[in-house]
Parts: sequence; structure tokens; C-alpha cells
Amino acid sequence: MTAPRIGFIGAGNMATSLIGGMLQGSFKPNQVMASDRSDEQLQRLSRQFGIHTSTDNADLARDCDVLVLAVKPQVLQAVCRALPAERKAGQLVVSIAAGITCSSLASWLGADTPLVRCMPNTPALRGQGVSGLFAVTQVSGEQKKLTENIMNAVGISLWLEQEEQIDAVTAVSGSGPAYFFYLMEAMTSAGEQLGLPREVAERLTLFTALGAADMAVHSDVDTAELRRRVTSPGGTTEQAINSFARDDLPGMVARAMQAAAARSAELSKELA
Ligand SMILES: NC(=O)c1ccc[n+]([C@@H]2O[C@H](COP(=O)([O-])OP(=O)(O)OC[C@H]3O[C@@H](n4cnc5c(N)ncnc54)[C@H](OP(=O)(O)O)[C@@H]3O)[C@@H](O)[C@H]2O)c1
Repeated sequence: MTAPRIGFIGAGNMATSLIGGMLQGSFKPNQVMASDRSDEQLQRLSRQFGIHTSTDNADLARDCDVLVLAVKPQVLQAVCRALPAERKAGQLVVSIAAGITCSSLASWLGADTPLVRCMPNTPALRGQGVSGLFAVTQVSGEQKKLTENIMNAVGISLWLEQEEQIDAVTAVSGSGPAYFFYLMEAMTSAGEQLGLPREVAERLTLFTALGAADMAVHSDVDTAELRRRVTSPGGTTEQAINSFARDDLPGMVARAMQAAAARSAELSKELA
């Protein structure tokens, strides 16, 4: 079987990270192509990765087995509608555009198009992303595997059973980095108020976050148990945890994430 050819429409931040990750993995430069309206952007990609580039989306779409739609959601409809009808039969289309549903994509690209909708997050730009993936029934097992190979180039990915779950993914991992940044911001300021120089408080906070996430990812017990293990009765951590509990931290987080999920559903309707 010949190696599948992957074409990116939109060669911005996400596409650049994905292409970089793919080429560090099992993909070869002659398998990957990109189009963008900016020639300068394409020249940069071509120099950096040695891949074929084009300013003509239609040209690229005719030539590849997988089309990754990596433009901003607001321009996606126009981009899809301008693609040629004579694309490769059974061509897989993977959309990473936030808020664009499979039914919108199918109405712009054709009802039988094998479609995967993907919700990545910004740490993908550092190869540490996590994505939620949803496939319509036309997507084959082999195409699902190929999608995983593409998305796992910048982190990990998880398949969802229902498309509506993308709103929950958006609330957990899509918007999630900002929640952690907010907590780190608050911890840094609180450390400063306790008498540390700001840079010291910040480094302590960031490396604590990194260490805690690394421990949790590699642990065989859940985060509640990890928390219990560092919370000795009568100790310092217990005082902080009790204070968080009195202020209903779990309730605050749940309410914030419900608001994010509701907004994600609302945006999908606005962009339909
Ligand atoms: N960045 C993230 O962390 C993140 C997270 C989750 C989801 N996403 C999704 O990923 C997608 C890409 O995001 P991004 O951050 O990579 O955006 P980006 O850096 O703005 O990249 C999009 C690229 O597409 C180009 N473009 C615009 N119109 C085009 C057209 N008609 N034909 C070809 N190319 C065109 C843009 O050119 P101009 O700059 O000239 O417009 C830009 O170079 C978005 O849909 C976003 O919702 C991104």
C-alpha cells in the first residue's frame, strides 16, 4: 500500500505543530503538504520541513488522501465550499476548527464524506496536547488509526462516542489550560504576599504544577488518593485543603465548566 498523503489547509500555529510532530514520528516529508493564503507562511514551512506547499487549496485537496482543515472557524465554510467536487473518492477530512459540527461540514463537503471532528488544545503547540475525536459512521477503522497517528504527533487523543461530548471536551481540556494558568497566577501572587520574591514564587508554582501533573499521569492511583497522601492530619496541606473545601472549590469548578460547555454549544449553533 502506498503511504497516505496528508494535506493541511491553513498553515498556521496548529498545522505547523502537527506537521513538525508528524515528521519527527513516522511521516515522511513527501507525504505531507500544506496550503495557505500567505505565501510567506508557506515558504517558512517549506524551508523548515521540506514539504510541498501551495497557495491553491483546491490543488492540494485533489492530491491527498487526508485533508486536515486547520483554518479559523469563521472562514471554514468559505474554504469548504470552494473545494473541488472531484476530490479523491473516500478522502478523509479531519477538522480541527472549534465549534464546527459534522453536520455543517457534511452540508458543505457532501453528505457521504468521511469526517473526523477534533478538539485539540494549546499545549499541542509544545507537543503536549490532548484532543477529543469524533468520527461519523463513514470513517473506516484504518482512517481512525491514521487520524490518531496525525493527532498523537502533538500529544494524545481520545475517541468520543457522541459528537455532543465535544462541548464537554472543550470545557475540560480545550479551555482547561487557562484554568491552570489562573490557579498558577493566584498561587504566584499568594506566594508573593507570603514574603517571596515574585520570580521565586512563580518558579516554585510552575514547577510544582509540572511535578504534580507528572506524578498524577504516572501514578496508579487517582488524584483524590494522591491528594490524601500529601495531606497529613494536623499538617499544613490540610489547612489549605480545608479552606478550599469551605469555599466550595469543587462547586466553583463545576459551575465554571458548565458555563464553558454551554458557550461551546452556543458557538456551534452560531457557526452552523
Ligand atoms: N491554536 C490552538 O491552540 C487551537 C486549539 C484548539 C483548536 N484550534 C483550531 O485550530 C484551527 C487553526 O488554529 P491556529 O491557531 O493554527 O490558527 P492560525 O494560526 O490563524 O492558522 C490559520 C491559517 O489559515 C490561514 N488561512 C486563512 N484563510 C485561509 C484560506 N481561505 N485558505 C487557506 N488558508 C487560510 C491563515 O492565514 P491568515 O493569517 O492570513 O488569515 C493562517 O495562516 C482553528 O480552527 C482553531 O479553532 C486551535
